[in-house]
Amino acid sequence: MRTSVKTVVALPALAAVMLTASACGGASAHSEEPAEAAAYSYLEAISEIAGAHGGNRAVGSSGGRATRDYIVEELTQMGYQPRTQSVTSTDGDVGANILADTGGSGRTVILGAHYDSVKQGPGINDNGSGVATLLAIGERLRTTRPDLNVRLAFWDSEEYGIAGSQTYVKSMSPAEMKSVVAYINADMTGTREPTAIVYDADGSSAKRLAEDSKDDPEMARALEALMPPKDVASEKLEATLRDCLGRENIPVDDDLSLNGSSDTAPFVGRVPVGGAVLTHEVTLPNNVLQFAPGYHSPNDTIDTVDADVLERTTDAMWCSVRAVSAGALS
Ligand code: PHE
Ligand code: ZN
Ligand code: ZN
Repeated sequence: MRTSVKTVVALPALAAVMLTASACGGASAHSEEPAEAAAYSYLEAISEIAGAHGGNRAVGSSGGRATRDYIVEELTQMGYQPRTQSVTSTDGDVGANILADTGGSGRTVILGAHYDSVKQGPGINDNGSGVATLLAIGERLRTTRPDLNVRLAFWDSEEYGIAGSQTYVKSMSPAEMKSVVAYINADMTGTREPTAIVYDADGSSAKRLAEDSKDDPEMARALEALMPPKDVASEKLEATLRDCLGRENIPVDDDLSLNGSSDTAPFVGRVPVGGAVLTHEVTLPNNVLQFAPGYHSPNDTIDTVDADVLERTTDAMWCSVRAVSAGALS
């Protein structure tokens, strides 16, 4: 497949090299499970919170605090005992992570999503959607308990230095680190007409890109930074995520390499890592490329979200958690 370099985005702590290829075909299998829970109803609540706080849920803001209170309240009602961990953003704003466990000792799979928005908008798809996905899964976990502990992690300040997940990883003891079977990240799970980017554990897309840009030393250096450390469990997790997304007819981009982005980054090289970010690239009139309509702007409202995609991606994440707990990575 011929690929061409579209753009290189390099923000502090965010680096993604994007390649375009011909449109991916969706997988053909249909999900056999009925969509039971409504992730969308959680998202509606988050959208209302944003509306009540000036269209903003950034770390340290009243909308950010109201989102945190909402998540804690929902988890408590479901029977969890959520705990918080203080986080300071790169701008000096103070927020908190929220962590909740299904219980049991020993092996843990962490399912994470950032709940903060950028200061420029309400962050409903990025990443109220991921929060809605986690809450819906939290609900399913009440009746279907996997064989290991599932830790739901709601990160603050992803948008400002990936500070929440970074703080958490730094706080982990070696024993805790060893008990983590996988970290799975959910970001932008409600994108319309999506193409999912999964964490590229084997570096295949970066390698392909390197082939195509042999005579570009700057690109070669950028690609070097995108090569993930060799980790077989992460490779199996990538395959699991691809399989679960495929079952839900969410197409996965094969030609996009992603490393160091979002809340997967602090976990890389420490525990098996995987995750999905759903994109729908749009080029604005000023030639700036957006990952999805409304991305990081006041227009990242509930109108940008496809409720059906949100439920299907939630199902895919649930599928992944269950596969991991059933031993898919061992
Ligand atoms: N969703 C990430 C954010 O919070 C950015 C991102 C987009 C990461 C696309 C990877 C791919 O801004
Ligand atoms: Zn963002
Ligand atoms: Zn995000």
